[in-house]
Amino acid sequence: MKVLVLAGGNSPERDVSFSSGCMISNALADKGHEVALVDVFLGIDAPADGLSTLFKKHPDYQKQVFAIPSTPPDLNKIISSRTPDTGMFFGQNVLDCCRLADVVFLALHGAAGENGQIQAAFDLLNIRYTGTDFPGCVLAMDKLVTKEILSANGLPTPPSVLIPRGGAVNWQEIEALGYPCVIKPLRGGSSIGVSIPVNSEEFLTGLQEAQAAMDKYDRGILVEKYIDGREYCVGIIDRTALPVIEIIPNEGWFDYEKKYQAGLTKEVCPADLPMSLMLKMQTIAFDIHLALHLGFYSRIDFKVDSDDNIYCLEANTLPGMTPTSLFPQEAAAAGINYAALCDRIVRYEAVR
Ligand SMILES: Nc1ncnc2c1ncn2[C@@H]1O[C@H](COP(=O)(O)OP(=O)(O)O)[C@@H](O)[C@H]1O
Ligand SMILES: [Mg+2]
Repeated sequence: MKVLVLAGGNSPERDVSFSSGCMISNALADKGHEVALVDVFLGIDAPADGLSTLFKKHPDYQKQVFAIPSTPPDLNKIISSRTPDTGMFFGQNVLDCCRLADVVFLALHGAAGENGQIQAAFDLLNIRYTGTDFPGCVLAMDKLVTKEILSANGLPTPPSVLIPRGGAVNWQEIEALGYPCVIKPLRGGSSIGVSIPVNSEEFLTGLQEAQAAMDKYDRGILVEKYIDGREYCVGIIDRTALPVIEIIPNEGWFDYEKKYQAGLTKEVCPADLPMSLMLKMQTIAFDIHLALHLGFYSRIDFKVDSDDNIYCLEANTLPGMTPTSLFPQEAAAAGINYAALCDRIVRYEAVR
């Protein structure tokens, strides 16, 4: 199959996306596909012999590697450096490359990529793509919408408060949640803009950080009750829950650096858990996947307190596929290696 892997973009998770994109492209080439990797925002120059020659098959395909720096990129620099400026989100030749492919593998993370806009545009353009379609993306991208749907379905998620955009902090509500609490942008990812303040002073600093990371569609900032306990994720693929993975940061919590710098976090998969708790978490993850109308694959994040109460933090429509990412580790524990995982994802979309 001809697969265009779309990576990069103009979100703070651009570097994470490149890392995922390189790995996915290499894996698909190993599986015999004709592959091209393109930055959705910066685009690509057309070769003299035409765009179709960008798609390379083994042995002409050149493997690529991208190491994620320890801090998110300077987006303003990247956005202003774009030449030519197409005057729209999609970079030069991107849509034409998409039309040449049998399937576009979305290796994107962050706003355009996970919020449903690209999916909606591709539906109108008859371009096939991997992952969840736009209605599911819209529900999963906004952490408060997700929580409202979970609550309506009796699915567990921590109590929270919304600080409306431009509105004042209701200190009574924040004190009721207690410290530490968790501040997060509504449509963030990779822990960018997330903080865990222990008092009102740190709260105000954290609020500023979250506001700086706010998306233009965000209604406000989410403040969540801190769940003291262990952290787990459950991947779903093809209507099946993968083995539960536990995340154990060497110190502190699972921030941007811990997520992508090797050796700062230990992952245990399958997690060391009683079978009953494992099955309960997998069942909840599957119910969340259905309630949010997610597609062929997803990853649901959880915290579990010392009384074994399970809380869903969020659902991810395009789980990370980097060398340190959780979803591929869960698939491997279920006997699906990285290349087979990528191959299954594109094949599903191609025949759907
Ligand atoms: N309510 C909470 N209690 C404890 N830790 C939390 C809570 N919410 C988030 N965290 C920590 O912050 C990290 C990022 O939060 P998450 O909601 O998953 O946002 P992101 O989309 O940035 O991954 C989590 O992996 C977890 O370590
Ligand atoms: Mg998360």
